[in-house]
Amino acid sequence: MKLSVSILNSEDKNKMIKKISNTNISYIHMDVMDGIFVSQKSLSFNEFNNLAKVSNKKLDVHLMVEDPISYIEKIRYNHNIEYITIHVEIDKDIKYILQKIKDYGFKAGLSIKPNTDLNIIKEYLDYIDLLLVMTVEPGLGGQTFISESEERLIKIKQLIKNYNIVLEVDGGINNETINMVSQADIAVVGSYITKSDNPIARINSLV
Ligand code: DX5
Ligand code: ZN
Repeated sequence: MKLSVSILNSEDKNKMIKKISNTNISYIHMDVMDGIFVSQKSLSFNEFNNLAKVSNKKLDVHLMVEDPISYIEKIRYNHNIEYITIHVEIDKDIKYILQKIKDYGFKAGLSIKPNTDLNIIKEYLDYIDLLLVMTVEPGLGGQTFISESEERLIKIKQLIKNYNIVLEVDGGINNETINMVSQADIAVVGSYITKSDNPIARINSLV
């Protein structure tokens, strides 16, 4: 399983990115929040653009925002972005936005919250490269993994079995809960790594 490290909860994001850049993690996970789709705000586009330059690691961008297009327009010149993921719950033309992400040369991801009906993703499966399954309610780092996610992931795996879609999980992943998400291709891990005195040792304990 690949690791994508969420820097959301790091005290010094710049330093954290530098520290973990020399490890074999696959991605830096950039959590963007607008204070509307979720109540907190994180990563203004200026902050994003500065952090994106700190390392050569690929970026996995998680947009917890109601209006992704305007944000995407402002970060699209960062060529180390691999995935841009939007939420299926936003009240926007999802297919149009997914296409826009691809037109800009990125891979398109769709994220689903823990209580959203799974059937909603069916109509988008032809349009996405990645499915990001939230294993906590989006909006905050450091929450406890929702244990029902394990069963949900089995159903999701079944839903996407005929598609070429990368399965990613996000929220509450640590050295124990990682065993409950073995269906996934990429695990996003935040606090377990970034809140530790020894982030590198934590990374090594997961791989
Ligand atoms: C939650 C974010 C997650 C979070 C992960 O809304 O999308 O990426 O930062 O952090 P941990 O691993 O602390 O749950
Ligand atoms: Zn995230």
